[in-house]
Amino acid sequence: MTYSIIGSGAIGSALARRFAAAGIQVRVANSRGPESLKELASELGNSIEPASLDKALAADVVILAVPYDAVKGVLLKASNWKGRIIVDATNAIDFTTFGPADLGGRTSSSIVAELAPGASVVKGFNHLLHRILARSPDDGRGYGRRTLFISGEEPEGKKTVAGLMERLGFAVIDLGGLSQGGLLQQFGGPLTSHSLVTQEQKGSTVADLDLEEH
Ligand SMILES: NC(=O)c1ccc[n+]([C@@H]2O[C@H](COP(=O)([O-])OP(=O)(O)OC[C@H]3O[C@@H](n4cnc5c(N)ncnc54)[C@H](OP(=O)(O)O)[C@@H]3O)[C@@H](O)[C@H]2O)c1
Repeated sequence: MTYSIIGSGAIGSALARRFAAAGIQVRVANSRGPESLKELASELGNSIEPASLDKALAADVVILAVPYDAVKGVLLKASNWKGRIIVDATNAIDFTTFGPADLGGRTSSSIVAELAPGASVVKGFNHLLHRILARSPDDGRGYGRRTLFISGEEPEGKKTVAGLMERLGFAVIDLGGLSQGGLLQQFGGPLTSHSLVTQEQKGSTVADLDLEEH
């Protein structure tokens, strides 16, 4: 399974940091080309492969971390999405009001899905501020894991993305299809910016936790 992140700004580099921490190989691309990613790669190590946009777009799992306005241009550069997965980490924002963009009642990821026929589109990695996403998903005291949400229409695609998120150290909640879950987790939805942490400890049940400390 090959992974890529398109975008190396706030959210793309937060994600790259988590891939590097988990030792999972990932191609990273941006609009300026691989040369501009050398510094990030030398900071984060061998898991990070600076890539051209074309090479990143050819991965099995492509994480979109570009401004929403750039999504269409990026997606149309790939010739064939059939059998591949797009993780839509973008947020459709109207920057004049810093509110959700008017998409005529549609979810942002259903528009992404329309632009990439054949792809399994999973909304994910989009609801947390980049500085929070970049942190270790462990709360640091061994009590719980930060939670990510996913939404999508294809169970297999969601299973793959959930597995990736778990390997990165996160807990995962599947919110259902794009039209239900997508609305909950996309920008302006009720889950925007909520950083949830599970109540668990390795080898223990919730009942065993010292909740005074938690
Ligand atoms: N910032 C957050 O906390 C946050 C949280 C959740 C979701 N999001 C969403 O994540 C997405 C990225 O946000 P961000 O804050 O990371 O933005 P950002 O810091 O401005 O970074 C955007 C990245 O996208 C790349 N890019 C732009 N157009 C491109 C194109 N046509 N082809 C290839 N790469 C292109 C840029 O390349 P260059 O580096 O070469 O300019 C840059 O690396 C947005 O949709 C945003 O709503 C952001």
